Amino acid sequence: MLREDFPILSGQDFAYLDSAATMQKPQVVIDTVSDFYKTSNANPRRGLYDLSVKATKILEDARKTVANFIGAEPKQIVFTKNATESLNLAAWLLKQRHPDAKISAPLDLHHSALLPFANLFGLDQDGEISLRSGMSNVTGEMPDFDSATVIDSAQEVVHRRIDVSKRPCDFLAFSGHKLGAEFGIGVLYIREPEKYEPVFFGGEMVDAVELNNNKITNYYSEAPAKFEAGTVNVAGALSLKIAIEYLLSHDFNKLSEHTIKLSDYAKELLGKIPEVKIYSAKNGIVSFNIEGVHPHDAAQVLASHGIMLRAGYHCAQPFLDSNGWGPVLRASFCFYNTEEEVEQLAAAVKNIRKEMGLS
Ligand code: ALA
Repeated sequence: MLREDFPILSGQDFAYLDSAATMQKPQVVIDTVSDFYKTSNANPRRGLYDLSVKATKILEDARKTVANFIGAEPKQIVFTKNATESLNLAAWLLKQRHPDAKISAPLDLHHSALLPFANLFGLDQDGEISLRSGMSNVTGEMPDFDSATVIDSAQEVVHRRIDVSKRPCDFLAFSGHKLGAEFGIGVLYIREPEKYEPVFFGGEMVDAVELNNNKITNYYSEAPAKFEAGTVNVAGALSLKIAIEYLLSHDFNKLSEHTIKLSDYAKELLGKIPEVKIYSAKNGIVSFNIEGVHPHDAAQVLASHGIMLRAGYHCAQPFLDSNGWGPVLRASFCFYNTEEEVEQLAAAVKNIRKEMGLS
């Protein structure tokens, strides 16, 4: 049973049903990060002394693990602070080469995918740059598509294996914290990193700077360093490597099957409650509402019973509004959740209207 690997969950009677927002961290990730600061902390790429060399090696080893995980080369992996920063970076890089392009995108995108591109390019369903999400954070939908210019894999990455050689794209983004790593580490895969110029400046992305007659000339490091301005989050990169190794030490498909079973079970139990309207239930995500109860109120009542889920627009307001759903409750499951937690959710939901004096 994997639940024991997650110290925050052990011995607790609360139900954490918000893993689409962030996944809990396995002990091995927590321990490795703690050990890093006890034994290996130094600024990578900068020092000639052993600790700095060690930190640089840890960073580059992590890059190799991430690259292997998605079928890429290490030089194609840029570390960022999260998927949002990765998607913003991708938008600015594309803008360099396609300043007048338009973006074609489905409506169910997360704001972090939609907004950087909509603001820089504008949307047009016939646009030459295609922006796709590997998995919706509201519906759990995992659409099949053969290729895209940019893929937001923030939700998808923990649910199905990604291989950029089988589903080609110019850019693919995800966060570490949604697959068990620390906050503050994200990834941008860039298929042809040498084609683009940096957009953030400073730190080891600089190879040399010359000043002549008040004019600065920059020479940049090779990719991927040229896209990583400032000090890189080595501990975060290490935590991502360990989180990936942890996931791969189990049968990835089985983990996902368990998560799917839980959302199917939630659909079954919540579906029996007449006041509940389910909008979508698949791949570990269940979006629903309770008649006459605002989702924020429902989430607070559920929280008072130790049930933690998210309520609102889920950073996908255009999608929810265009469907006429408005804000919704969302339970999101991970492989460490249990059937008992689904039952706990259903029992609490069944009682909410009564508890609020509505029926
Ligand atoms: N994108 C995260 C979610 O869907 C925060 O909850």
